[in-house]
Amino acid sequence: MPRLLRPLVASLAVLSGSLTSFAATFASDPCAKIGGQAFVQPADVIACQKSFPLNETIRQNVIATVSGVFDFYTFEDYYLNSPPPFQESTTNIRADLAKLKSTPYATDYDFNLALYRFTTQLNDGHTGWYPSCYISYQNLLPAPIVILDQGVFIVPDLVQFVTLLGSAFTNYLQSIGFNWQRLEGAKVLSIGGMSAFDYIDTIASTVSGNYLDHGVRVNSVVSSYRISGTSFSQRFGDLAGPSFVTQTGLTMTLIPVNSTKPETVTIPYVASFSGNPFTDKASYWANNCAANDDTNGVDRRSDSTQRTQGNDVLRPIGKIVDLAPKQAVALPGPFVPTLPQVNGSTGVIKSYILDDKKTGVMFIGSFEGDYTQFQTDTVAAIAQFQASGVTNLLIDLTDNGGERRVFLHQAVANVDIWAGGYVCLGLFLHQYLSGSKIGYPGFQSTMRANPLAQKIVASNIAQGIDSSLAYYGSDNWAFFNNTPFPANYNYMKPPAPNVVNGKYDPTSQRFYDICTPFQVDVPSTPPFDLSKVALVGNGNCASTCALFTTLMNERHNTKIAIFGGKPGEQVQFKGMAGNQVLEWADLDSEIKTSGLKNDPLAPPDLLVDGNMRVNWRTAWSFFNEFEPIAYVSELPKFQFAYTKDTYNNPQNLWTFAAKQLFH
Ligand SMILES: *[C@@H]1O[C@H](CO)[C@@H](O)[C@H](O)[C@H]1NC(C)=O
Ligand SMILES: *[C@@H]1O[C@H](CO)[C@@H](O)[C@H](O)[C@H]1NC(C)=O
Ligand SMILES: *[C@@H]1O[C@H](CO)[C@@H](O)[C@H](O)[C@H]1NC(C)=O
Repeated sequence: MPRLLRPLVASLAVLSGSLTSFAATFASDPCAKIGGQAFVQPADVIACQKSFPLNETIRQNVIATVSGVFDFYTFEDYYLNSPPPFQESTTNIRADLAKLKSTPYATDYDFNLALYRFTTQLNDGHTGWYPSCYISYQNLLPAPIVILDQGVFIVPDLVQFVTLLGSAFTNYLQSIGFNWQRLEGAKVLSIGGMSAFDYIDTIASTVSGNYLDHGVRVNSVVSSYRISGTSFSQRFGDLAGPSFVTQTGLTMTLIPVNSTKPETVTIPYVASFSGNPFTDKASYWANNCAANDDTNGVDRRSDSTQRTQGNDVLRPIGKIVDLAPKQAVALPGPFVPTLPQVNGSTGVIKSYILDDKKTGVMFIGSFEGDYTQFQTDTVAAIAQFQASGVTNLLIDLTDNGGERRVFLHQAVANVDIWAGGYVCLGLFLHQYLSGSKIGYPGFQSTMRANPLAQKIVASNIAQGIDSSLAYYGSDNWAFFNNTPFPANYNYMKPPAPNVVNGKYDPTSQRFYDICTPFQVDVPSTPPFDLSKVALVGNGNCASTCALFTTLMNERHNTKIAIFGGKPGEQVQFKGMAGNQVLEWADLDSEIKTSGLKNDPLAPPDLLVDGNMRVNWRTAWSFFNEFEPIAYVSELPKFQFAYTKDTYNNPQNLWTFAAKQLFH
C-alpha cells in the first residue's frame, strides 16, 4: 500500500493539472461539458446553444430564405383574418418577418427560438422553420400527462412506458435522485402555477403548432397511442416532449395514487441528444448547425440522381412534422392488441377482426412507408374481412402522420424519416372503399401563381423540363376530364384570379392529381356498405390523413368519432389539411432546375442547416370549391372522452367504438 502511494500521488498531481485545464475548457466552452452524452441537464444544453452570439450575416440570410419561401405559401393571406373557429392563428406574416429581421437578439439561439415560435404558432405543420442547431436536443419530462373522463393525470402506465426509454434514461433520473415512479397515475391539479387545463391550453397555443384547430392541438399536448413506422408506440405529447430546449423543470400540484393530500413537485426535464456527435463548441456548430450538402437544393438537370425523396418518380407528399418525441418509444406490451392480426399487417397498417366477428379494424399509422405495400396490404385485409363475413369496417387514424423519427444516438444520427404520406395513398384508400365508379377520388388543387412560380413554369416549358425532373412540370397534373396536361401546357398562363381577405392572390389554373392506375385493381363498387364504415381518431390526422377523412366526410357523410379534448370543447376531425408540401431543399431544387436561381426573386442558399418547409398546394373543398379544406370547419358526429382503459389501449378503444358506432 505505502509503496503504491507515491506513484499514485504523482499521477494525481498530473491528473489535477489536466483537471484544471478541463475546468477551464468547460468554463470557456459550455459545449465540451455535454459532448458525447445522451442525457444531460437542460440548463447545460441551453448554455451551449446560447454560446453562439447573433451573427447578423446569418440572420439576414435566414430571413431572406424564409421570406422567399413564404411567397409560395398557399395560406399566407388567410392568416390576415383566419375564419372561425381558427381565429387563434391570425397574424400578419410579413409584419412578423420584418420584426424578426430587425429585433436585437443577443444570441443565435434567441433569434432561432423567436423564428421557430412564430412559424410554430401559424399552426400548420406543413409550414415552418426547423433549425438543426436547436432541434438536436429534445426535452423529456418523466411525467407525460393524459386527459381522461375523470380529469388530468400523469399517465397511469408511467413506469412501464418510461422504462422503455432504456436504462440510460432511468439511470440518469436515479443519478439526480428523482423518484419519478411514485408519480404514476397521479391526479394533476395544477401545472406551472395554472390550473391543469389552462396550462394545457398554453402549451397548445404556444408549443404544439401543427394543427389549425385548438382542440386538435390539445390532444397533441398529451400522451397517446400510435403506430410509429410499423410498430405500436406511445407518444410523450408536447408537454412532456418539446423539441426546442427552453425549460429545466415543471412544477405540478398533484395527488399521488393512494394518497388524498395534494403535494407540489418540481419535475426535472432531461435533455436527450439526437443530433450529430460533437466534443466541443466548434464541433457542435460544424456538425449540427453549419450548412451541409443536403441543406440546399440541386440543379436536377445536371444531377438527376438527386430526384426528390429518392424516388424514380416525383410523388406528391403531404405531411406535417412532429418533432416530439424524436425517439419512438414502444407501447408497453400489455396494451398492444392481443387479437390475431389479419393478412396485410406487417407495414403501416395493422388489421384485426374484433370478438363480435362482424367488425374489421384497420389501424392506419400513416400514408407513407412502402407505396405499393400500402395498397397490397389494403387488398389483403379487406379480402380476409370479406372471407370472414365481416360487415363493419372501423378505421383508426389516431396520430396518423406528421411524425418525424430520429433514431436514438446512432452513429449516423439525424436519420430523419418524414411520415405523413403520399397524397395518392389517401386518394387510393378513398377510391378503394368507394369503388372505382366514383371516378376521380380527390380534390381540385392549385398552387400560388406568384411571379417567380410563373417564371418557373414558363422556363420549364421553354427547356422541355417535365415531371421527371420537376414538381412544377406540367404533366404532373390533369384536366378535370383526367387527361394529363401536355408537358408544354402553361397552367399559370393566365393565372386564375383569387382574392383572400381583400388581397389579390392569384393561383395556377385548377387541376386534378394523377394517381391512377394504382398498383392494385380497385373494385368498381364499395367492398362494404359505406354506411357501415366508420373512422376513429384523436384529430392528430395530418395532411394526407386529413385529405382522406375530409373526402369520406364530404362525399359519403361517414361516421367519424374523435376521442379526447377538454371536457365540453369541440375537436375537429382533421388536423391540418394542406395538400402537398415542399421541403426547402426541394423548392430550391425546383428553382435551380428551372435555371432561375439568379433571379432577384429567388431565395438565397441557407448558410446554416435548417429546413423552411412550405405548404405548396391547396386542396379546394368539395362542399365549397372556393374554400381550402383546411379552413372548412368539419366536426365529427361523435366525441368521446378517453378513459383509463382506452387512452393507451387500442383494442379496448375499438371494442368501445364498435358498440357505439355500429348497431
Ligand atoms: C458570420 O457568419 C458568416 C457566414 O457564415 C461568417 O463568414 C462570418 O465570419 C461570421 N461572423 C462572425 C463575427 O463570426
Ligand atoms: C396503491 O396501493 C395498492 C394497494 O395497496 C398497491 O397495490 C399499489 O401498488 C399502490 N400504488 C402506488 C402507486 O403506490
Ligand atoms: C392470407 O394470406 C395467405 C398467404 O398469402 C393466403 O394463403 C390466405 O388465403 C390469406 N387468407 C385470407 C383469409 O385471405
